[in-house]
Amino acid sequence: MSKDIIKVRNISKIYDSKTKALDNLSLSIVEGEWTSIMGPSGSGKTTLLNIIGCLDSATKGSVHINGTEITRLKQKELTRFRRENIGLIFQQYHLVPYLTALENVMMAQFYHSIVNENDAVEVLKRVGLSHRLNHTPAHLSGGEQQRVCIARALINEPNILLADEPTGNLDQKNGELVLSLIKELQLEGRTIILITHNPQIGKFGNRVVKLIDGKIST
Ligand SMILES: Nc1ncnc2c1ncn2[C@@H]1O[C@H](COP(=O)(O)OP(=O)(O)O)[C@@H](O)[C@H]1O
Ligand SMILES: [Mg+2]
Repeated sequence: MSKDIIKVRNISKIYDSKTKALDNLSLSIVEGEWTSIMGPSGSGKTTLLNIIGCLDSATKGSVHINGTEITRLKQKELTRFRRENIGLIFQQYHLVPYLTALENVMMAQFYHSIVNENDAVEVLKRVGLSHRLNHTPAHLSGGEQQRVCIARALINEPNILLADEPTGNLDQKNGELVLSLIKELQLEGRTIILITHNPQIGKFGNRVVKLIDGKIST
C-alpha cells in the first residue's frame, strides 16, 4: 500500500511582509516516488524544497514528514530531524573548500552521530570517487564535487533526498551520471524530490509538479 511520507498543507511563505513566495500550497508525496518540481524562475520551487528540508519555515500551514509535524518543531529539534531524515543536494554543492572529499563527508557524520572513516570511504566509493578521497573541492571537477555532495547527503542514510537543480552546473555526461545515481537511490526505496528546469530530467520521475506564482498549476 502506498503511504504519503510528506504532507504539505496550505503553506504560505511571505518574505519581508510583501513577497508571497508560496501561496496556500498543498502537496502530498508518496513514499518511494520521485517527484520532479518544475516551473519558472521565482515560482517558489526552492522555497518549497527548503521548507520540506527543514532549512526554512513556512509563514502559515503545516508540513508532516514521516508522521512528524515539522512546522511545530523548535530550531534544535528541526535540525536533528533533518539530519536523521533528509539528505540535501544543491546546485552549488556547498562543500567546505579547505576539507578533502573524505573530510566533507565525515563532517556530516560528525554532526549526525559518530565519525566512521570506513563508512565515509564506502559511500564515496559508491559514487565512484574512491580515487578522489583526499582531494579538496578546488581539485575536483563539477561532476565530482556533485558526487561528493551526494555522498555527504547519503552518509547518514536518510530516506528522503531533496535535490535543487542538481545538474544545473553540469555538462550532459556528468548530469546523466548524477541522475542515474539518484535513480539508483530511489530504487533502493528512497523518496526523491528534485527541482529542474529541464523537461527531459523531469521525465526521470514518477510525477511532475508544476509551480507558478507559489501555487501548483494543474
Ligand atoms: N530570502 C529571501 N528573501 C526575500 N525574498 C525571497 C527570498 N528567497 C526567495 N525570495 C523570493 O521568493 C520568490 C520565490 O523564490 P524561489 O523559491 O527561490 O523561486 P525558484 O526556486 O522557483 O526560482 C521569488 O520572488 C524570490 O525573489
Ligand atoms: Mg530555485
